Amino acid sequence: MSARHLLDIDDLRPAELVDIITKAEEPSPPQVLQGKGVGLIFEKASGRTRNATEMAVVGLGGHPVSMRGDEVGIDTRETAEDVARALAGYHAVIGARVKSHAVLERMAAVSPVPVLNLLSDLAHPCQAIADLVTLRARFGALAGLRVAYVGDFNNVARSLAIAAAFTAVDFVVASPPGYGPTPVDVDRIASLNGLMTVTDRPLDATKGAHAVYTDVWISMGQEGEADERRRAFEGFNVSSGLFENADAKAIFLHCLPAIRGEEVDAEVIDGLQSAVFEQAANRLAAARGVLWWMAETRS
Ligand code: CP
Ligand code: NVA
Repeated sequence: MSARHLLDIDDLRPAELVDIITKAEEPSPPQVLQGKGVGLIFEKASGRTRNATEMAVVGLGGHPVSMRGDEVGIDTRETAEDVARALAGYHAVIGARVKSHAVLERMAAVSPVPVLNLLSDLAHPCQAIADLVTLRARFGALAGLRVAYVGDFNNVARSLAIAAAFTAVDFVVASPPGYGPTPVDVDRIASLNGLMTVTDRPLDATKGAHAVYTDVWISMGQEGEADERRRAFEGFNVSSGLFENADAKAIFLHCLPAIRGEEVDAEVIDGLQSAVFEQAANRLAAARGVLWWMAETRS
């Protein structure tokens, strides 16, 4: 039996994603990690992911051990493969937030225990699961909802687009030229029978949407591109006017951390229709659902 890893949402089957969401919604999960460890490596900063994942491990009866990237030294102190093989000797799951997605793939290729992506340059599946938990809590059924993502088609947007494809959520992306889904992304969503529309007109994207979502214009590791990105994303900030084009009962979502006045205006993120802190809190439920699923799943 080999481990099932979760590096992006399409490592799951659609029914497994729904199972994880259902598990996330369970207030009293079984103690499936009783007496077990979960190792969590962070090569980049984290507030929500570290706290949510650690507390999810505790909620399932296990013991989390968080490590900073520089103390583990992936590919400096020892290879990614050796880190994974060694940590698997202590832990039931290895979670990692990495600079390069390829590092996760290398760890997953050799790890006898599940490897969980806690954010990479390409994907953020734990965030997407929390986003679906939030949408389901607010709207009930997911199928038929329309989510408008305005901004950079990055790690967060890519995983959310796949999660939307799996759950029949209509996903509309508005990005400036050069920052939207690539042809590879479009093909990937199409192969999953996803409903993804791509535009460079934010007002077209938010029209009638049930949720308007954005993320920072300059992700961790892109600081050197800050000036050119700020210029490129001009006109793509979620202002009140853009948000009001959505459905009257629409919610505003953001993975956080956010920069007010840049990708979103304060009156939207701090407004009555913002669900961002409920969404942040749902990271805990989502992590519990994922870890519970991993603990009972073998391929
Ligand atoms: N949304 C998210 O992953 O937040 P952190 O970077 O604080 O973990
Ligand atoms: N796109 C952001 C998400 C942070 C949670 C980043 O990668 O920095």
